[in-house]
Order: sequence, then C-alpha cells, then structure tokens
Amino acid sequence: MTTPVTWTKRWTFILAAAGSAVGLGNIWKFPYIAGENGGGAFIAVYLLCILAIGIPTMMAEAMLGKAGRANPIVAIRKLSLNDGKSNAWSWLGGLGIVTGIMIIMFYSVVGGWALDYVAQSATGAYANANPELTKANFAALLDSKTTQIIGHTLFILLNVVVIGFGVRRGIGIASEILMPLLILILLVLVGYAAVNGDIQGALAFMFNVDFSALSGEAIIVAMGHAFFTLSIGMGSIMVYGAYMPENACVGRSVLTIAAMDTAIALLAGLAIYPLVLGNGLEPGAGPGLMFETLPLAFGNMPGGLIFGTAFFLLISIAALTSAISLLEPAVAWMEQLCIKRWISTSIIGVIAWVGGLASIYSSDVFNFLDYATANIMLPLGGFIIAIFAGWVLRRVTVRKHLSSISMTTFNTWYIAIRFLAPIGIIVVFINGILGA
Ligand code: PFF
Repeated sequence: MTTPVTWTKRWTFILAAAGSAVGLGNIWKFPYIAGENGGGAFIAVYLLCILAIGIPTMMAEAMLGKAGRANPIVAIRKLSLNDGKSNAWSWLGGLGIVTGIMIIMFYSVVGGWALDYVAQSATGAYANANPELTKANFAALLDSKTTQIIGHTLFILLNVVVIGFGVRRGIGIASEILMPLLILILLVLVGYAAVNGDIQGALAFMFNVDFSALSGEAIIVAMGHAFFTLSIGMGSIMVYGAYMPENACVGRSVLTIAAMDTAIALLAGLAIYPLVLGNGLEPGAGPGLMFETLPLAFGNMPGGLIFGTAFFLLISIAALTSAISLLEPAVAWMEQLCIKRWISTSIIGVIAWVGGLASIYSSDVFNFLDYATANIMLPLGGFIIAIFAGWVLRRVTVRKHLSSISMTTFNTWYIAIRFLAPIGIIVVFINGILGA
C-alpha cells in the first residue's frame, strides 16, 4: 500500500480550495447575475445561502474527503460500507464527475475570453475607451468563433498540462501567488471606481434590500450561485479534502475560504457597479458585463495598460485553478482505475474541448450547461451530501472525523447539515417551481 498523497504544508489545502472557489464565478458571474436579478435582495439571499447552506455543506464535503481519503466515488463507498450502509451512495461521486465536466464545457469558453482580454489589454486595444468601444470589442469577440476557439483550446491545454503534472506541484503553487495579487488589483479598481464612477448608486444597488422585487426564480439562481462560487456539490472540495493532512482543522479552513470567496465577489461588485451606473451602462447586460465595464477603468487610468494586463492574467489563472478542481474528481477516479494520469487527463480534456465547441457555436448550449449545473445539479449534489453526512453516516463516525472543532461548533454544524441545508434547498426549489 502506498501512503496517500497529502498537501506539502498545512495551509496548502486552504490555498488550493480557495483557488477552486475563487474564479470566474466571483468576478465574471456574480456581478452579472446580481445585476440581472435586481441587486440588493438577490445579494442578501446569496449571502444567506452561503451562511446557512454553503458553509455547512462545504465542511461536510471536506470532512468526507479527509475521512475517505480517495476520489469521491471510492471515498463515499468506503465510508458508507464502514457504517454498514449501502454502497449505492457512491453514485453521488458519479453525479459530481458528470457535473464537473458539464461545467468545464462552458467555463473554459469564458476562460478563453479572459485570455483574449489579456492580449487585448497588452496591445492597448481599449486605450481611452468609452462604453461604445468596450461594447463593440466584446461583441466582436462573440462574433469571432475562431478567436473564441483559440482561447478555449489554450485554456483546456493549460488545464491538461497543470493536472498532468500532479496535485501538489501544479495547484498549490498557482494559488499561493495569485490570491494576494488579485485582491490587490481589485482594491485598486474599487478605488478607481469610487472616484470616477457612481459609488453611491452602486452601494444602493448592492445593499438596498427590497424583497418584494425578488422572484422565486431569482432565489433559485442565488442559491445555485452559492454552490457554484464555493465549488460545492460535486466533489471538488472532497477531492482536495482527501489530500488534507490528518491534523488540519476542517472548520477553520472552510470559514477562511468562504470569507475570502465572498469578500472577492463583493469587491468585484464594488469595482463594477459604480462604473456601470456612472457610464450609463446596464447592470443586467448579461455575460459581457465584466468585459464591457472594467476596460473603461483600465483604458482611462494611469498605468492602465499594465494593470489591465495583470488583471486579466490573474483572472485567467483564477479560472484555471477553478477549472483544475472541476476536472480533478474525474481524473482521480480514472487514476484509481489504473489509467495513467496523463492519459486520463487527456481523455477528459478532449471531452471538455468538444463540449466547449458546442457552447461557442450555440448560446443555448452555453446557457443550458450554466443553468442546469449551477441551479439544479450542484444543489442536488449538495442535498445528497447533506443527507449522507447528516443522516446516513453515524453521528460518532462524523464526530470522529470532525474532532478538531469544539462540541458546540460541532452541534451547530450537525443541526445545519441535518435540517437547515436540506430543508433550505427543498424550500428554494419548491418556491421556484410554484412561482415560475
Ligand atoms: N467556484 C468556481 C468559481 O466561482 O469560478 C467554479 C467552480 C469550481 C464551481 C469548482 C464548481 C466546482 F466544483
């Protein structure tokens, strides 16, 4: 028997899981879906879902991975059989693998857009930009299938190379440098937007809560995004948890990651909305929002060429560290079937690449993959994880694997995972279906 791989340093789990959580979801997706769904009330529901459902589920996932020490399918089978329960629960791992591959099929297209914007920034394509120019630039990118295919292909290739090199070397290093730099540039952007945009309007848009304007559908999207942004419901965090050293504390790690992830999303909103409102743009502009807005800042600020290039480069790396975690459950599973890491990574890379082409040629495919995974499959996966950790495994088993947290914290978590998370998910779904 070989000893299981563990992260080199204790906090590398935090960095890697934060690398998974922080990605396009925070900076590209959050501002545009919050914009489409009216701002304040949507953001309030999203924050509530992070607290009540997201954090407990993320703890469950990390705990299951750490306890099972294997890819999600094997880890869950092992834990279930140990407690005398059915091995059918391991289907949960299968659902996660499929979900991850479906997400990467549109995620890598947006990753490709980010790469294209690195090139645009470096060549001064939007110097002295105005809203007409930035909108035209994004429209031109959507029109050019070739450019999108080049970006998407490059993005998938980068994934295959990093995953092929293996978990410890590939993922940890990228996250260590990335996160502080990304936060720094976001802070610069927020400062610029506060001075040059409509910060008062933005604050009102983000934090004035009017629940009467919130549809059942918007609540589903807010909850789905809580899953998407924390990378939970499909086994990514479980896989990373499997590489956690024995003495690492699940509770504290998860809280740190969730706090960092939420802070980055809110900072992205504070950078984008003042510029949107100050330049007469639409918060509900859709997937182009970030690409049409931030170039206005970079195109007009001193040193914007360098800042813009660095920003889109960092977004691309953030997207890459998230994408890696989307593919890792599938790769880890194939590896355990004794398929070499390079080969399994390449096979999955090809599947993801073909799916990405479909997303490029059809916005319906793109929207379907995005909607179905974030709003249905991840919450469904999260629901099953909550039931498995809260009701199927024995309490003593779960407590044993969460022994580093205090009894009070454990009891609070246990109530959340048994009741709050599963009931919350069901209520949001029923409310959405009835209200649709
Ligand atoms: N959390 C990532 C983001 O916000 O961009 C996306 C993601 C990664 C979702 C991994 C799900 C996942 F399992």
